[in-house]
Amino acid sequence: MNLFISGGAGFIGSNLVNEVNKLKKIKKIIIYDNFSSGKKWFLKKSKKIRIINADLKNQNKLNKSIKKTDLVYHFAANPDIAAAVKNPDIDFIEGTILLRNVLEAMRKNNIKKIIFASGSGVYGDKKDKPLIEDKTITNPISTYGASKLYCENLIASYSNLVGITGISFRFANVSGDNCTHGVCYDFVKKLFKNKKEINILGNGQQSKSYLHVSDVVSALIKAKNFKFKNHQVYNLSTKDFISVNEILKLALEAFKIKNIKKKYTGGTRGWRGDVPIVRINDSKFRKLGWSNKNSSKQTIIKTIKFLINNRKHYGF
Ligand SMILES: NC(=O)c1ccc[n+]([C@@H]2O[C@H](COP(=O)([O-])OP(=O)(O)OC[C@H]3O[C@@H](n4cnc5c(N)ncnc54)[C@H](O)[C@@H]3O)[C@@H](O)[C@H]2O)c1
Repeated sequence: MNLFISGGAGFIGSNLVNEVNKLKKIKKIIIYDNFSSGKKWFLKKSKKIRIINADLKNQNKLNKSIKKTDLVYHFAANPDIAAAVKNPDIDFIEGTILLRNVLEAMRKNNIKKIIFASGSGVYGDKKDKPLIEDKTITNPISTYGASKLYCENLIASYSNLVGITGISFRFANVSGDNCTHGVCYDFVKKLFKNKKEINILGNGQQSKSYLHVSDVVSALIKAKNFKFKNHQVYNLSTKDFISVNEILKLALEAFKIKNIKKKYTGGTRGWRGDVPIVRINDSKFRKLGWSNKNSSKQTIIKTIKFLINNRKHYGF
């Protein structure tokens, strides 16, 4: 089986690449990435891997690069939800259009299967109500969430019109080795700079699930063996959650900092478009035999450790 992985040099993509590279059945892995946030050092060297350093907005290059692959994993997108406050176009251009281009390249090359990295942002702000794929109404409050929802619907439409089949995963927050953004990244970066004072976005009471990237990868690998039919949507999460204040406490412990001045930007949200409380029900996917190995707390501890150990690579 040959894989095409857009955004394969990024956080989640590189973790998947390094795992599927070990599988005998995988003969070739094409990574298509413009390295806007992806890094070469995330990827282990392998004869199976071919890296194409290009933008998905280059349709001609994409059409050629995707040839003779059997399954597409699509990760490339703007990772910074808050960026849309200053640049509301970003998720359309670096999200919706990228997926549209991938689907067109698949159509032209008769490739029938796609696994798409969506997110819980499609639901919008539902407070502490459990988010359930086939029950919860989707009302995104960010262009990021809106773009993810449109992308899911585009895959569903292509499945109806041209027979492309897909699986969309609505991930909780993902953290772990090679992470390129998020709350752990933010705190570790800030603490290397200043151990006396730290800025915290919002009031610190935002509370969400943090899924370890190795658990995401096990779901992504499991899904590639499914019988693809039209378009399926699955939530993916942990069963627990953790607050920003608790994450800060774990970061301070890792740095052995006892006293620090905490400055909160205030308000319940970290930024406009942030959903402060997220409670995901992922029993639909768990029923298929998947479970997470790491709790939210374990995920955070491992991520902070990885970031500290790799500070030179990250340039902190
Ligand atoms: N990390 C999370 O918590 C999380 C949660 C839910 C969904 N997701 C989704 O999962 C996917 C991967 O996220 P990630 O955290 O690994 O982000 P990431 O930024 O580390 O990875 C994205 C990769 O895509 C590449 N890329 C971006 N724009 C591109 C373009 N125009 N052309 C070619 N390559 C491009 C980047 O260089 C990067 O390597 C994204 O679609 C993201 O929205 C992530």
